[in-house]
Amino acid sequence: MTPNFGIMVHGGAGTSKIRTKRTQISKALEDSVSAGYDILLAGRDSVDSVESAVASMEGSGVFNAGFGSCLTLEKRIEMDASIMDGRDLRAGSVGAVEHIQNPVKLARKVMERTDHVMFVSGGALKLAELCDIAPFFLEPTKEKLEVYTTLHKKLKTAWSRNYRLSSSSSFTLNQRHFGTVGAVAIDKHANVAAAVSTGGRWLKMHGRVGDSAVIGAGIYADNSSGAACATGNGEFIMKLCLSKYACDLMKQQQYSPSQAARKAIFLVTRRFGPNNGGMITVNAKGTFGLSMNTRSMPVAIKSSKSHGKMHVRL
Ligand code: GLY
Repeated sequence: MTPNFGIMVHGGAGTSKIRTKRTQISKALEDSVSAGYDILLAGRDSVDSVESAVASMEGSGVFNAGFGSCLTLEKRIEMDASIMDGRDLRAGSVGAVEHIQNPVKLARKVMERTDHVMFVSGGALKLAELCDIAPFFLEPTKEKLEVYTTLHKKLKTAWSRNYRLSSSSSFTLNQRHFGTVGAVAIDKHANVAAAVSTGGRWLKMHGRVGDSAVIGAGIYADNSSGAACATGNGEFIMKLCLSKYACDLMKQQQYSPSQAARKAIFLVTRRFGPNNGGMITVNAKGTFGLSMNTRSMPVAIKSSKSHGKMHVRL
């Protein structure tokens, strides 16, 4: 019997209710989950599936990843992404990369074409060149510059009250603007994989790298447990090694994917308070789970269990 196969994608955890862009968000999730599912249906592996799903969301411009990435304090776009194969724990990631159309595809090159796990900044660009990935120059849109101006004013007020070199006081300003994208999938051979991509946090300092580039934090995948993908405040997710924690909980079917995601997010809430993040999970049997401590985390799922019927939740 072919095991249950399928994919779940998310468009990031945020504190504001999704009122605007509902149609675009829904369409972008549908396109993404369908791209990933069609690959699984054709018998290809879960790594292809999550890469394709995340690349689709990077290209949509709707989320804080790829085309939609937020701006740093210096109005630059610096993106993080990673991918992991549950068969053999192979993983690849890129941090603070600029001028790359699909950071998740570059992360996959790191995984498959090098014996390293993480590349950052200029070194990642050099690798892209070696792998024939052409540079792609993305100008900040008018809409992004407006958000930048609003947030920057608030940040300056926060700084004048509590001066810090870092932009971490901008955290509360960021809560409405999460939007990292990610996917977990299981293929017909019961192999799991995870991928994630983000523009990071609004007004982050130049060179800041978040959880999406850190294996074990932003994603984890291991056939012996399952796969997990986190979204939210990267600093908190890194400190808790959140995705690895969720996968460990799923080991030996100790906890279901829903329970593992809930326990992981409960840990975030307990240590750092509410409105910080969310997680999607899948175990080696093809059962999916999700949890968040924010008001919203748009997700879509398509699996053989539901005969390929798509389910979107905004
Ligand atoms: N979770 C995305 C980030 O903090 O960079």
